[in-house]
Amino acid sequence: PYATYRELRDRAPLYWSPAAGCWVLSRYHDVAAVLTDPITYSSASGIFPTPADVDMTAILLPMLVMSDPPRHTQLRQIVSRAFTPRRIAALETTIEGIAADLLFQVPLEDDWDFVSAFSGPLPAIVIADLLGVPREDRDRFRAWSTTFVQSNPSRGQLGVEVATALYDYFASFLAERRAYPEDDLMTALVQAEVEGQYLSEEELLGFCLLLLVAGHETTTNLLSNGVVLLAAHPESRERLADDPGLVPGAVEELLRYDSPVQGLSRTVTRPVELHGQWMRPGDTVLLLFGAANRDERVFADAEVFDIDRRPEHIAFGRGIHFCLGAALARLETRIALQTLLGDRSFRWEADLAGAERLSSGPVRGFASLPVR
Ligand code: HEM
Repeated sequence: PYATYRELRDRAPLYWSPAAGCWVLSRYHDVAAVLTDPITYSSASGIFPTPADVDMTAILLPMLVMSDPPRHTQLRQIVSRAFTPRRIAALETTIEGIAADLLFQVPLEDDWDFVSAFSGPLPAIVIADLLGVPREDRDRFRAWSTTFVQSNPSRGQLGVEVATALYDYFASFLAERRAYPEDDLMTALVQAEVEGQYLSEEELLGFCLLLLVAGHETTTNLLSNGVVLLAAHPESRERLADDPGLVPGAVEELLRYDSPVQGLSRTVTRPVELHGQWMRPGDTVLLLFGAANRDERVFADAEVFDIDRRPEHIAFGRGIHFCLGAALARLETRIALQTLLGDRSFRWEADLAGAERLSSGPVRGFASLPVR
């Protein structure tokens, strides 16, 4: 998409897409300005452009990511109480174990599918662990999660059946944690309160599903896009293998260069003029993070992949909805890459001709990715 993005930035920075029925913004400063003005640009009626007959609220996304202030402020405060930096940092050893186990099971002498063997399961297992899903339920949970995140609301598929299965599972799990608290995220969510306010049952369940929607496929594709890019840049890969301390910087450049979430939308709440055109209340505006992150007005040689760049990218959004899981995604990706690079005899090639791209709206990456 990157050649099209450049054309949009240069020739039509506010573009009306007749096909999508929405406005499109592609320059970094425009995207950032919309993200930091949630009063003019609302999230409450959805964050993907969807066909008019699809009701997004049916899959329980509304909580948090699809709310505006003041409700968003309250919800975010409550979940932040449970989703603490300490809880995330404590996962480091667990994630190292998961990544090593997954790699150990890979048939290194043959071609294997990076998505089903590594980048798909890793974030699902991490979220299961974070929530406190018992080990014996892991496989079931992972299968549901994969089906759920692969259903595609922008094509009208809502994954209602599997959402119901997950919902029922979380409901019984939640009841158990209410009765017998443990040291896990589910218990912390049940107990988190701000000024006497707790999350309702519906909100708790919605938040658990949101963690899967927001945290599974995104991280999977950051990893998949990452191994493809590093296979194409062997000199960067060797530097990372020699000095694992460079990996966190490389993760930021991967996020910028091939952003897993290419774009999300907002709904305009008052007439706004931008680049000589008027957007009206009720209009949808799509914010192309993938294009903003290649904007040469902000990033010198934006089309060049450079692991030393330390970019202030916009891949996790910005402002009040800034990704709640950014620290977790960074931790998972750093550990996964360090694990892959750690074995000096293991250097992969990606078979792009045999790979299958995702067809899902906002996420860029792979449904399958043969590596050897
Ligand atoms: C929000 C990207 C991983 C949980 C967001 C937003 C973006 C994003 C762009 C902003 C949404 C908006 O402005 O409407 C990513 C990327 C990830 C990632 C690229 C991986 C590479 C995760 C993980 C979790 C997570 C691992 C949790 C397990 C959330 C939540 C929100 C969010 C809960 C909503 C925050 C709010 O509305 O206040 N993410 N995310 N994300 N993300 Fe992530």
